Amino acid sequence: MDTLAGGSITPSIIFGFRKPSPRQQLKFVSEENLEDTVPRRTLTRRGAMTDRNLLLIFGTETGNAEELAEDAAHMAKKYDLNPTVIDMEDITPEGISDSKRLIVICSTWGEGEQPVNAQDLYDAVSESEDGCMIGVNFAVLALGDTAFEFFCESGKEWDSVLEEKGGKRTNKRIDCDTDYDDYAEEWIEETLSLMKDIA
Ligand SMILES: Cc1cc2nc3c(=O)[nH]c(=O)nc-3n(C[C@H](O)[C@H](O)[C@H](O)COP(=O)(O)O)c2cc1C
Repeated sequence: MDTLAGGSITPSIIFGFRKPSPRQQLKFVSEENLEDTVPRRTLTRRGAMTDRNLLLIFGTETGNAEELAEDAAHMAKKYDLNPTVIDMEDITPEGISDSKRLIVICSTWGEGEQPVNAQDLYDAVSESEDGCMIGVNFAVLALGDTAFEFFCESGKEWDSVLEEKGGKRTNKRIDCDTDYDDYAEEWIEETLSLMKDIA
């Protein structure tokens, strides 16, 4: 039970406001940081607005994919890209199809299943009309564990469905085992470098 005074447990609801979960708090902070530092659009010398936006969406259960998405967003600034990181449960297929550059970072859970925060979006994209992802240049980083039979299955599903719906693969998918840090970083650099050149 939550206690308001004297207890060590923070109340989850005070005066009608729900306290954000630790993951939500992290997300708010990181979005604020990005808003502060990253311009949404870049003004060219001639004054024309160019779209340098990069959308990063993550599917996660324990935060690894989210952490990688945040890292990739910070790395993106080096490539003159304007990153936005979004939890898969906070975006619709239309939100994805609007973006010219898309990086999907998704783990696999259960026995080859999507993480809970990714399932609805994955189903919605799968049921969307053919061609809805035309114009989306995407790349998928899959997180998993080779100890499981369906290694990186969710990432494989994202990679397939985005292509099936008309998206263009900018970089080949990477399937990461538990020791993913260096491989993931190298892949992110490579992918950002390719995305940078998309006009
Ligand atoms: C209960 C459980 C089930 C898992 N199932 C799979 C699986 O079917 N396939 C796979 O490749 N990895 C599986 N994994 C490994 C996770 O995908 C991996 O630990 C990943 O880094 C978690 O990333 P996240 O924190 O972003 O969710 C599983 C892990 C756990 C704990």
